[in-house]
Amino acid sequence: MPKHIKVLLMLLALLALAFAGGKWFFTPASFWAYGHYRAASVDEIASAKPKFLEPAAFSATYPKQYATWSDGIHKVIKCQDCHLAQLDPQATGGALPTPRDSLKLCPICHQRIAGRPATQPQIDLASHYRGQQCVSCHDPHSPLFSPAGKPIALAAAAGGAHADVAAGKTVSVRCVGCHGPAGVSVAPTFPNLACQKETYLVSALNEYQAGTRTNPVMGGLAKALNRSDVRNVAAYFAGLPCAK
Ligand code: HEC
Ligand code: HEC
Ligand code: HEC
Ligand code: HEC
Repeated sequence: MPKHIKVLLMLLALLALAFAGGKWFFTPASFWAYGHYRAASVDEIASAKPKFLEPAAFSATYPKQYATWSDGIHKVIKCQDCHLAQLDPQATGGALPTPRDSLKLCPICHQRIAGRPATQPQIDLASHYRGQQCVSCHDPHSPLFSPAGKPIALAAAAGGAHADVAAGKTVSVRCVGCHGPAGVSVAPTFPNLACQKETYLVSALNEYQAGTRTNPVMGGLAKALNRSDVRNVAAYFAGLPCAK
């Protein structure tokens, strides 16, 4: 046999040996127990602790925030949606990392975007927060209340967001068929809204929405309005001249 063929065969034999050795050395012990699969990984996955926990898991550690959240409108959002799900609470001993910058966090869901469904409460960032952190006015766990626990609408009276009368006029096209274009109703069974007290109109609409005041017609109409619609349409009708 020529010398160069011998060398080639020897090299091939060495390679085959290295391959067999590598296969023996690197194959995990549990491989092939259930087929072409590392059986031990099943136990590893089964024993992994979940990183994303149900809010109830934090109720014992943070009873106060959990109680506020349970009563509030943000109950649809789980703790770790805001408290950074990607950080493993196990690594921090069960503690939730605090979102420090609400100006980054809250607009993710609340910034006004043309394609966002109207059912999601939205704000115009530029005019709404006026340079302050969202949490300086809203309790993040129950955002219709201030951090001090006062209803946020009352805070509005003390210089918060203002009603938009022009937007209210747009909403009122749904109402004038019964309540009249000038807020003076077209039938004796429909109440006038013109020059009614604004706060009264807001609370009447809120009651229809909540179902504490029931009327087959107004119930459905009111439920189709969001918070700003209510505020704006109330301001619009309240500002119309009184019926003569
Ligand atoms: C909508 C977002 C959001 C949700 C949902 C939320 N949090 Fe928070 N949480 C915040 C923000 C923002 C702060 C920081 C408030 C501040 O800076 O004043 C905070 C602060 C806290 C704090 C105080 C931490 C500190 O360092 O002062 C605790 C404790 C807490 N949250 C627990 C919870 C628990 C428990 C839940 C679930 C039941 C929850 N949070 C749900 C946004 C949220
Ligand atoms: C993951 C999305 C999400 C984040 C983040 C979030 N929210 Fe909300 N928020 C919602 C949803 C959804 C609702 C409506 C809940 C409902 O109507 O049942 C809501 C409701 C509200 C409301 C009540 C609006 C109304 O007209 O009834 C306010 C105020 C509010 N959020 C403020 C905040 C503030 C302040 C922050 C930051 C601390 C924040 N939100 C962070 C999703 C979010
Ligand atoms: C200066 C106080 C203040 C700050 C700061 C503030 N808000 Fe508000 N926000 C209010 C008041 C008051 C209301 C209720 C009156 C109203 O509906 O306009 C409100 C209402 C809302 C609503 C409900 C709007 C609707 O029409 O349904 C959302 C959502 C909201 N705020 C989100 C935020 C977010 C997100 C931030 C931070 C970027 C923020 N707010 C910062 C005072 C504030
Ligand atoms: C199909 C007719 C109809 C339409 C459209 C209608 N309403 Fe009404 N509304 C009524 C009737 C009837 C009542 C009296 C219901 C009752 O007794 O509770 C009423 C009552 C009210 C009240 C309570 C007034 C009071 O004095 O207590 C308010 C506020 C109101 N409507 C606002 C609106 C707004 C805002 C719209 C438009 C989004 C609207 N309505 C559209 C028929 C209508």
